[in-house]
Amino acid sequence: MLVFAIETSCDETSVCIMGKDKTIHNHTIFSQQIHERFGGVIPELASRAHLEILQEITHETFLKSNIKLKDIDMFAATCGPGLIGPLLIGSTFAKSLSIGCSKPFVPINHIEGHVLSPTYNNVISYPHLSLLISGGHTEIYFIENEKKISLIAESVDDALGETFDKVGKVLGLKYPGGPEIEYFAKNGNELKYKLPTPMLKDKSLNMSFSGIKTAVNLLVKNNIVDNRFISDVAASFQFCIANILTGKLSKTILKLKDSSINISSISVVGGVINNNYIRKKITDFGKKEDLEVFFPIKEMMSDNAAMIAWASILKTPKEENIFYKPNPRLTIL
Ligand code: KG4
Ligand code: ZN
Repeated sequence: MLVFAIETSCDETSVCIMGKDKTIHNHTIFSQQIHERFGGVIPELASRAHLEILQEITHETFLKSNIKLKDIDMFAATCGPGLIGPLLIGSTFAKSLSIGCSKPFVPINHIEGHVLSPTYNNVISYPHLSLLISGGHTEIYFIENEKKISLIAESVDDALGETFDKVGKVLGLKYPGGPEIEYFAKNGNELKYKLPTPMLKDKSLNMSFSGIKTAVNLLVKNNIVDNRFISDVAASFQFCIANILTGKLSKTILKLKDSSINISSISVVGGVINNNYIRKKITDFGKKEDLEVFFPIKEMMSDNAAMIAWASILKTPKEENIFYKPNPRLTIL
C-alpha cells in the first residue's frame, strides 16, 4: 500500500511517497525563499509558489522513487489549519490526482500530523502529553490514544516559533529567526539578561510570549547591538523559553495527577524542536522527572509531507472525503 501526501499549509512545499510498512520512498521539502526579504510569509506569494513547485517536485518524486502514479493507493493532503490559498492548492492538487486515479483522498489536520509524528519512530504508551511548538502553534495536547487527542493548554498570544522569528527581527537577524537565534546563542551568556516569564507562576496552564519580545525590544533600544550583545540576548532568550516550557509541562503533569491521571511520557513536536538547546533542556527535564521524552525523526520536525503521509496511514479513508473543504482555522477533533 502506497500513499502520496502533500503539505502546503504555510511556506514549505512538500511531497512524500510512503508505504504502509513505513518505508519513505521519497520525501521532498522545498522551503520557499521568496519570503525572506519581507521578514515573514506573504500568503499570495506562497500560493503562487506552491502551485509551481508542487508540479515540479511531484514529477521529480515519481521519477526518483521509480514509482508510477498508478501504483499509488491513496492520496493525502493537509486541509488546515494554515493559509487558505496554500491549503486550497495542496488539497485540490491531491484531490485531482485521487479522482484521476480512482483512489481515495484523505484530508489531514496539520496539527494532528505534528502530534502523531513521534508515533512513526517510537512506541508510545498512553495516556501521553504532546507539546507542539511551531511557527503558528504552541499547545499542549492530552493524548488518551492515537484517536483521542484533546487540547489542554495553549499560548494566549504569539506562538513560540513566531516569537523566535520576531525576536530575531528585533535583533536584526535573517528570517526565520529561530535557527539564527540558536546559532548566536551558542556563544552567549544565558544569565546575562533576565527576561520575563509571563504567566509562568499563574494557575492556568496557558502560556504567553509576546511580553518577551517587548522586553528584547527595550534591551535593543538601550544597548549597542554588536555580536556580543546579540549572542547574550539570544542565549538569555532561549534560557527563558526553556524555563517556561518545562515549568508549564511540570504544572500540567501535576494537574493531571490531581485527577488521578499519571503521565509517564511526553513528546515534543514542531519546527522549534530543531533547536538543540531546547531539545536538551526538555530531555534533561524528562530525566529529572522520570518521564520518557519522544521526538519525531529529523525530517518530520519542520513542516513536511512525511508526517502527513504517516497520519493518513493511521486513518480509514471515507468516500465523502473528496468533498472535504480546507479550513484555515481547523482545530483538533
Ligand atoms: O513547524 P514549522 O516548520 O511550521 C509551522 O507549522 O509553523 O515551524 C516553523 C518555526 C519557525 O518559526 C522557525 O523559526 C522555527 O520553527 N524554528 C526554530 C528552529 N528551526 C526552526 N526555532 C528555534 N530554533 C531552531 N533551530
Ligand atoms: Zn507545522
